[in-house]
Formats: sequence, structure tokens, C-alpha cells
Amino acid sequence: MPTLPFRQLPVLAIALALGTGTRSQTVQPDSIASKMQWFSDAKLGIFIHWGIYAVDGIDESWSFHNRKVSWPAYMRQLKGFGAERYDPDAWADLVRESGARYAVLTTKHHDGVALWDTKQRHYDVVDSTPARRDLVAPFFKALRERGIRTGAYYSLIDWSHPDYPGFLKDSSRYRIADDTARWRRFQKFNHAQLQEVSERFRPDLWWFDGDWEHSASQWEAPLIRSRILASNPQAIINGRLMGYGDYATPEQNFPVSRPPERWWELCMTTNDNWGWQPTDTHWKTPYEVITIFADAVSNGGNLLLDIGPRADGTIPPEQVNLLRELGAWNRKHGDAVFGTTPGLPAGHFYGPSTLSKDSSNLYLFLPGRVSGQVVVKGLLNKVRSIRVLGAGDSLSHKIVGKISWSPVPGLVYIDVPGTVQDRYMTVLRLQLDGPLRLYRGKGGLN
Ligand code: GLC
Repeated sequence: MPTLPFRQLPVLAIALALGTGTRSQTVQPDSIASKMQWFSDAKLGIFIHWGIYAVDGIDESWSFHNRKVSWPAYMRQLKGFGAERYDPDAWADLVRESGARYAVLTTKHHDGVALWDTKQRHYDVVDSTPARRDLVAPFFKALRERGIRTGAYYSLIDWSHPDYPGFLKDSSRYRIADDTARWRRFQKFNHAQLQEVSERFRPDLWWFDGDWEHSASQWEAPLIRSRILASNPQAIINGRLMGYGDYATPEQNFPVSRPPERWWELCMTTNDNWGWQPTDTHWKTPYEVITIFADAVSNGGNLLLDIGPRADGTIPPEQVNLLRELGAWNRKHGDAVFGTTPGLPAGHFYGPSTLSKDSSNLYLFLPGRVSGQVVVKGLLNKVRSIRVLGAGDSLSHKIVGKISWSPVPGLVYIDVPGTVQDRYMTVLRLQLDGPLRLYRGKGGLN
């Protein structure tokens, strides 16, 4: 929700923390490769922003921080957060139906309101709202029953805590340098809440947010990381822990070039906001979501697609529909998505692509309707067969421009009749004669 220019700052901080040596110095990719495997195969997660901000349908936490509403007015939403129709099984069913392999729920946003029964002296939905129950545990249980991995979003920022320095965009409570004892109290509180989430919910994945307000040493990021891993060595930690996370988290805007990190995840809203906002009807279409998803997977990333349930726990129909359409597409094209590896480098094909793990199957994604033929360049392998995923049809191809004495392979032109095409995005499977071999030269005799 980048509404104000100053919001650029966090993005920069994230880029600095992830894009430079900082991250690799602290977390060596090879040392975490095995625990990252499920994440790398998963491709799709569902992000859920649920909190008291859904009562008035305003920006999550940012609305008071940016002075759109006063803090007392924001907190009055506590009284309206009833979760009356919250059905964690239905949520988990929808996540499963979308094809997602993991889901990440906001256990606490920057407003500090915990969705579980925290034992620390602070706001939670059990004691401060009519919901009067822990909302995290039943959802995690429902996910686990369906074999879906659990993720806990946890905001390091806590703008409602009396010992947290930051509050409104232009006024802070204090400066750490002026009152280290007060900051120490906040650190203790923060560690205690993290310990609660860790022990009670044992998340497979931790999704930190808000690290940009303080340094790694102020957050005690190494300690946070080591405590999480001591309690669950397999836990995955996102890249918003000032250099102590496992993977990068570009937000909202699709990266144009392939991110350099070995693991990354694009988090993206289904309209323009993370939480429920009735005035925001700028919904992404299934076609847009599916093509963005394919683009992420093609470039070695995951998509964490966000939904924002209402205060009563119901999920807006537009979001339900999007997840269902995405799920139907995934069921038809899952072989090309889940458990695959990044596809062809730029220049070989005009569109996303992926490879089977042994790289002997190449999947080509055709966004939109294709009239006629598509082409692959620089493919040294012989193509054994070409099939349309989910439709079964076998397609013919033609090698164009192969010169007998040149090492440069010909162009592979594939006929794609309109009758075999998917309404959103058709996928072709090219079965190759072995692991992928590409020609990367300049043509001619090279
Ligand atoms: C940003 C925002 C936050 C949102 C998050 C999701 O960091 O601060 O409101 O929850 O992005 O990625």
C-alpha cells in the first residue's frame, strides 16, 4: 500500500538488506538448501491479512500511523471485531482449492493487536474484541489437516505498544539512545511474543515485516533467528529480518529482471489493498493473476497472493472467485508449475517457461490466445513430443532455418490450433531427448 513517498524507504531498506552481501554473509544459501526444498516446490501461497482494520475497512495499521484516522478511532474497531462467521475449515478448503501449498496469516500487524491469546500485557482479539477466542490455532490446525504448510506473519513494528518508539508518521514516543531501558523492555516483550507464537503454533514459515524501523542489532535479529531455529530447525524465515532471513520478498510490483536471490516470493494483493476495503474494487482478473503467477514461477519465484477477509470472517466473493479460477487452472496445468525449476533464460521464448527437475520436459506458457504458431530459439535437443496440458492433444512442429553445416540449431515452430487453447493460459509440454541443452551463441559459425 505505498500511499506516501516516505514508504519508499522500507523498500530501499529491504533491497539493501537482501540485494547486497549482507544477507549472504549471514545466511549461506547452501546451508539452508534442504529445508528450503518444500518452499521452492510450493510455488503458491495464500497471504491473509485479517485484523481489526477490517471493521471500518481502512488501511491496516497505516491509517492511524499516517493520520488518516486518529489512534483512538482506529482502536475503537476492537469493539466491532466479532469473527462471527469465521470458518477456518472453509478458509483452509479455499486455500487448498486454489492449489496453494502454504498460507500465511497475520498473527499481528503493525497495530500490535495479536490474533492469538497473548500472555503479554497488550491487545489481543481474545481479551479486547467480541471475537473472544484465539483465531490462529484453528486455522493452522485446519491447514495441517489438509497437508498445507503454515506461515505466521509477525510485525516487528508495534505502533500501539507503550514501549515501542515509533507511533505516528511525524511523532515518536522516544529515541532509543535516550532511554535504552525502555527499549530493553520492548525487546523483552517482543521476544516473549515470538516465543509464544513459536511454541503454540510452530509455524513452518515466519513472515516478518517492518524490520526497516530498526537495525539488526536493535531488533536482536540474530537472536530472533537462532531462537526460532532452536525450537524448529526446519522453520523458514522470510527476508525481512535485517539480513537474517532465508529468502527475498519483493512486494506488489513484479520484478522485471530475474531476482538474483536463490529463493524469492512476490507478495501481491488481489485488489490494491492487503486488508478488506469495501471501496477498493480494483480487482485483478484471473488472467492477470495467472500470468503474473506463471511469470514468477518461470523466474524461480513463488507467489504469495493476498486476501483480506471481512471482520466477521467471511471472504469477499471476488477473492473467492479469483482463488477458484486460479485453482482450476492449477489443476489442469499443475505439472508445469509445482515442483518445477526456472525456465529458459530470456531470449529463447516469448513468454514464461519452466522445466521438470531433470530438465527433460520443457513447459511453455502461452499468455492469451495464440493465433497460429509459437517459436523456441536455440534448442539443441530433439523434441520427442509436444502435448497440450490438460487437453492431451499432441501438436506438430517444424524446424526452420537449420543449416546442415552450422552448429546453430533451427527454430522450433509449433502449431497451436485455437481449439486446444485454455481460456487463460495454455501450457505446452515439450518432451526432449534428454536434459535441456541450449545454444547461446551469436549465430553463423559460432
Ligand atoms: C508492507 C506493509 C504492510 C503489509 C505488507 C505485506 O510491508 O507495511 O501493511 O502487511 O507490506 O507485504
